[in-house]
Amino acid sequence: MRFTTTLLALGILVLQGAAQLTSYETFLQAATEWPPGPGAVLVPQQPDAELTAMMAQIDPARIQAIITKLVSFGTRNTMSSQTDPTRGIGAARDWIASQMQTFAATSGGRMTVSVPGYLQTPTGSIIKNTMISNVVATLKGSSDPNRIYVVSGHYDSRNTNNSDFTNDAPGADDDGSGVAVAMELARVMATHKPAATIMFAAVAGEEQGLFGSAFMAATLKNASANVQGMLNNDIVGSSTGDDGTTDPFNIRMFAQGIPSTETSAQISDRISIGAENDSPIRQLGRFVVEVASNAVTQMNVQMIYRPDRFLRGGDHESFIKNGYPAVRFTEPAENFAHQHQDVRVVNGVQFGDLLQFCDFDFNARVARVNGVALWSLAQAPGTPKGLTLDTSVLTNNSTLKWTGDPAAAGYEVVWRASEDAFWTHVIPVGKVTSTTVLLSKDNAQFGVRAVGANGFKSPAAFPFSG
Ligand SMILES: *[C@@H]1O[C@H](CO)[C@@H](O)[C@H](O)[C@H]1NC(C)=O
Ligand SMILES: *[C@@H]1O[C@H](CO)[C@@H](O)[C@H](O)[C@H]1NC(C)=O
Ligand SMILES: *[C@@H]1O[C@H](CO)[C@@H](O)[C@H](O)[C@H]1NC(C)=O
Ligand SMILES: *[C@@H]1O[C@H](CO)[C@@H](O)[C@H](O)[C@H]1NC(C)=O
Ligand SMILES: [Zn+2]
Repeated sequence: MRFTTTLLALGILVLQGAAQLTSYETFLQAATEWPPGPGAVLVPQQPDAELTAMMAQIDPARIQAIITKLVSFGTRNTMSSQTDPTRGIGAARDWIASQMQTFAATSGGRMTVSVPGYLQTPTGSIIKNTMISNVVATLKGSSDPNRIYVVSGHYDSRNTNNSDFTNDAPGADDDGSGVAVAMELARVMATHKPAATIMFAAVAGEEQGLFGSAFMAATLKNASANVQGMLNNDIVGSSTGDDGTTDPFNIRMFAQGIPSTETSAQISDRISIGAENDSPIRQLGRFVVEVASNAVTQMNVQMIYRPDRFLRGGDHESFIKNGYPAVRFTEPAENFAHQHQDVRVVNGVQFGDLLQFCDFDFNARVARVNGVALWSLAQAPGTPKGLTLDTSVLTNNSTLKWTGDPAAAGYEVVWRASEDAFWTHVIPVGKVTSTTVLLSKDNAQFGVRAVGANGFKSPAAFPFSG
């Protein structure tokens, strides 16, 4: 009912012959004629057999073992020992790297592991010269290796005093849980062949200022790397909030609106065409919601239109600041007594980021959300480039043009009413690089996505005037 009302409000009765249409069904029937009309209701793309089988291998017991090991290093404060073999961030770094190496050994040479780093001089809560090292396992794409997707967690931890590099800081949830996501995905994907490249990262220095991720993103940017999506996992290990309520089948995904890198001229342009809710970050978010809220993940992805929670930030911001689309996953209801707190009991209440507060089944489902999204991104063609909407003539039709990609078997126009949150309709238009849709650009948001021969579909690109 709401649908019909929306369609009428869109003024799509300009469609030829629309005057005789009396129902939504006949309306859709007419839409299959050329030129393309409003199309069909968008049905979310589903994981294929290979992806479904891969996700079934994600193992809560492995997640538990990873977090248990990370907690065993006592503290992983960024300034803690880099040389002690059993305590401190150096031991954690070396253990993560050695685990990633064992995964790489199963990859037939496709996965390589590196530990890039730099020396950070004192600033803010970094109170001494400190090596910031990331551990990165890179699974090289088989047909489009220069297109990259990144999944990360941060392996450093903290207690109440962010500069305390001596006392315990177990960091089970923050962010052993996110590191476990990156490591478990590296393990199950190592034996598979994605079309594009996937980087599985454990970064350091998050707590003192996103240092590791800033270094990683700047390194990629300086190499002009084509990073088309980054998924940050930070505090994804508990489904129970501080009031005791549990929400084990929901994961929050924070997705910023206007990219931090846009100039005031670009922002003015964005405002003038109503594209505030259509940045590449929001398209990445819509893609994740579409592909990863299903029976394979058993999760609902809740997109939140905000860079992060209030008073908090994360490693996705480093990527956004370098011009890359990135989102952050965080559990639905946090317990602040379990984050950034010395391990202690006050009035019978246990404080501290302890293993006992983790829900490994939930953490595994979050890993599946990431896995389905990453694999679907990497197997699809890239997001269409050079997409424009012809705004040179007053017409109720909408003409879109884009740059052809040899990896695409075809394209789809997606659209939604301007006030809708997600793409609602899809119009397959074939292997073309322009099309005219019989819908008014005044009333709808349009996107174009590429479809691979394997059926995987890219995130949508959003057109600017051209
Ligand atoms: C566009 O559609 C509106 C109704 O939505 C109609 O009044 C107008 O005449 C149409 N313009 C053209 C050029 O077809
Ligand atoms: C935090 O820890 C650092 C390093 O041990 C110490 O120098 C500083 O005084 C501590 N700050 C507070 C408020 O205790
Ligand atoms: C990136 O390039 C800038 C400009 O040349 C340089 O200042 C910066 O150190 C580089 N960063 C990294 C991580 O390579
Ligand atoms: C809209 O497209 C239809 C079909 O191609 C065409 O007949 C009509 O002239 C177009 N209208 C405008 C205003 O461009
Ligand atoms: Zn964190």
